[in-house]
Amino acid sequence: MSKRTVLTGITTTGTPHLGNYVGAIKPAIQASHGDTVQSFYFLADYHALIKCRDPEVVQQSTLEIAATWLALGLDTGKAIFYRQSDIPEISELTWLLTCITAKGLMNRAHAYKAAVQDNIASGEDEDFAIAMGLFSYPILMAADILMFNANNVPVGRDQVQHLEMSRDIAQRFNHHFGEHFVLPEAVVDDNVALLPGQDGRKMSKSYNNTIPLWLPEKALRKSIMKIVTNSLVPGEPKQTEGSALFAIYSAFASSEQRDAMKQAFADGIGWGDAKQQCFEMINSELAPARALYDDLIADPAKIETCLQQGAERAREVAVPFMQRLRAAVGIRPLA
Ligand code: TRP
Repeated sequence: MSKRTVLTGITTTGTPHLGNYVGAIKPAIQASHGDTVQSFYFLADYHALIKCRDPEVVQQSTLEIAATWLALGLDTGKAIFYRQSDIPEISELTWLLTCITAKGLMNRAHAYKAAVQDNIASGEDEDFAIAMGLFSYPILMAADILMFNANNVPVGRDQVQHLEMSRDIAQRFNHHFGEHFVLPEAVVDDNVALLPGQDGRKMSKSYNNTIPLWLPEKALRKSIMKIVTNSLVPGEPKQTEGSALFAIYSAFASSEQRDAMKQAFADGIGWGDAKQQCFEMINSELAPARALYDDLIADPAKIETCLQQGAERAREVAVPFMQRLRAAVGIRPLA
């Protein structure tokens, strides 16, 4: 029996933060150790080009994100870990899919619509500064997924529409050219709480409230000390509900530790003490991986080798499948 295929991509813009770690990276790495699925994890560097025109940032972010996954113990013997741009068949498939995707479907994509709305709101032409990459983004994402016939695609809520589009595109291709693609399903884990940032809103680069994952110890402590609390003094009972500090603590705590902290809040723990405990817990979880991360960042060739090995394994699937798809649409040898 063939295993279920789980696939997800990480856009290589920016530096990973605690929200990425808790919400996506940690669960994916845990899942990679299981034997019941074949997982594909990749660095979506073509997607990065949609948002970012700084070559140094794209490269640095690719390095940091690859090092992050490896340092945190991704099992690259089991999971296939690769860089999107190392699989040229993905671009090729993108074109085949582009040719059958309805423009009207792309018109409905949230990210594109939001960009149009922003333009209208600011009195610009609708199309102002909108590149075709943004418009066609869901087709590239569909190619990522359909290339490996993924059954399950773990994503954030904001990506669910893209999965629906992938299914739609797959169905259309299958309808015209035969049953080649599995219809993928989004997996949105409601249990992984959206981690709040220092100001209590969702931790996100766009709110400038993130705690980077690989801060050195002192800087991590400082960053945790900046989590917004209120003016209650030690001895006064404190609410866990709505507390960003409690939510961040909980994301790293066992259920016993969480209960104990809840009790400490009720008993009036001082904010400084609670933050110190939060720092110690997070630091003890990250410190061993941090050392590995620092070693990897200092040795990019090692990461490159690992990605090349991943690409080779991914292409064992992609090359013959692409061959079959080319033939299906009529791109075949003449004799
Ligand atoms: N678009 C996704 C994001 O921004 C990243 C991504 C690219 C992806 N290709 C994918 C996720 C394929 C899942 C499957 O989060």
